Amino acid sequence: MDTDKTVLNVIHSRKSVRHYTEQTVSREILETLVRAGMSAPSAVNRQPWVFIAIDERQTLDELGSRLPYARMLLKTNAAIVVCGDMKKAPDEWQQEFWIQDCSAATENILIAAEAIGLGSVWTAVYPAKDRIEIVRRSLNLPDHIIPLNVLPIGFPDNIDKPKDKWNPGKLIWNKWV
Ligand SMILES: Cc1cc2nc3c(=O)[nH]c(=O)nc-3n(C[C@H](O)[C@H](O)[C@H](O)COP(=O)(O)O)c2cc1C
Repeated sequence: MDTDKTVLNVIHSRKSVRHYTEQTVSREILETLVRAGMSAPSAVNRQPWVFIAIDERQTLDELGSRLPYARMLLKTNAAIVVCGDMKKAPDEWQQEFWIQDCSAATENILIAAEAIGLGSVWTAVYPAKDRIEIVRRSLNLPDHIIPLNVLPIGFPDNIDKPKDKWNPGKLIWNKWV
């Protein structure tokens, strides 16, 4: 694990990684990433998330061949599916927040992966009904668990590079003018 990077350095070097080496991702690494996800902030600290860590070839292949924009799952040996738990968001008002909460957890995982020398990419599931159904069926998810995304996890082969997105025109000081 590369522990030398500062937080800002890691944030700026994170990128969507879609090309991986064949090196196996251990359960220890997956747990490290899920721990980072669980440390995210959430509305009223409800933590309305569940993380499905996948390291079975058959399941990765099933998702990779069925989900339209997640074919890199065919080349990784691990993935994390970030899901919202609607039982932790019992009323409509609290349900409004599960996407923000799970998105914060997702970004933590993406940053943590970069920090320890791994790569990942957010592949969208929610709100596409067909994709939700594919993931639900492949992972036997009950109705109250909604998959937000699938994050393939692997060791990067250094093809993917970070983009410089700094745009001073998108920074507004004090009031809209
Ligand atoms: C909500 C969301 C959905 C995304 N869906 C996909 C996807 O289905 N497949 C994919 O390859 N990348 C997906 N991405 C990754 C974006 O394409 C990527 O973040 C963007 O091009 C910026 O590149 P970067 O992550 O390297 O900075 C998604 C990102 C977000 C935030």
